Amino acid sequence: MELYIDTANLEEIQQAHDLGVLDGVTTNPSLIAKEGVDYGKRLEEICRVVEGPVSAEVIAVDYEGMVREGRQRASIAPNIVVKLPCTAAGLKACKSFADEGIKTNMTLCFQPLQAWLVAKAGAFLVSPFIGRIDDVGQDGMDLIHQIRSIYDQYGYNTKLLAASIRHPKHMLDCLLAGADVATVPFSVIAQLLKHPLTDIGLEKFLVDYRKAFGG
Ligand code: E4P
Repeated sequence: MELYIDTANLEEIQQAHDLGVLDGVTTNPSLIAKEGVDYGKRLEEICRVVEGPVSAEVIAVDYEGMVREGRQRASIAPNIVVKLPCTAAGLKACKSFADEGIKTNMTLCFQPLQAWLVAKAGAFLVSPFIGRIDDVGQDGMDLIHQIRSIYDQYGYNTKLLAASIRHPKHMLDCLLAGADVATVPFSVIAQLLKHPLTDIGLEKFLVDYRKAFGG
């Protein structure tokens, strides 16, 4: 499973990149707003750090606006993936971009039928939002399983990108469910290596060694 970081914070992207296991980046309008920076400029900066896919979301909600904005974002760097919502206009724009050879990430996916349609339209990535589904009392992982099963059964090439991941258990469930990619905040990436027994074990190794050999 590929690992993307879900942030527009350059420092976090650099830190995750330095771990050597980062495959890409996802951004969205809320994440850019949090940074308070120019979207285009920040995308340029991110693409100088990360070679893998960098998702850039459109602000437009109409088809023409999405196509115009998406083309402009795609011209920033060859690894930009245009992020579009799973709406009728987004689906149309997804098909147009697929015909032009521009990659798309279809976001705000909350049900398997959206994932099916965007796969038919030639999406590169689909982003089901697990955490936000959990937030309303349903099980976000059910959606991952359903999309996996539909894509495998019909041989769609769209990559299943699990999004809105809130904790390490989501990550493990995504790995077991066969998600192609997971995008996560830096805080979750940091949690993935944490285990109290690792810390306790390491401390004991060092104490034992020092007792025997000093230092
Ligand atoms: C993914 O592309 C989205 O930007 C993100 O995962 C949304 O996560 P949230 O529900 O925690 O805001």
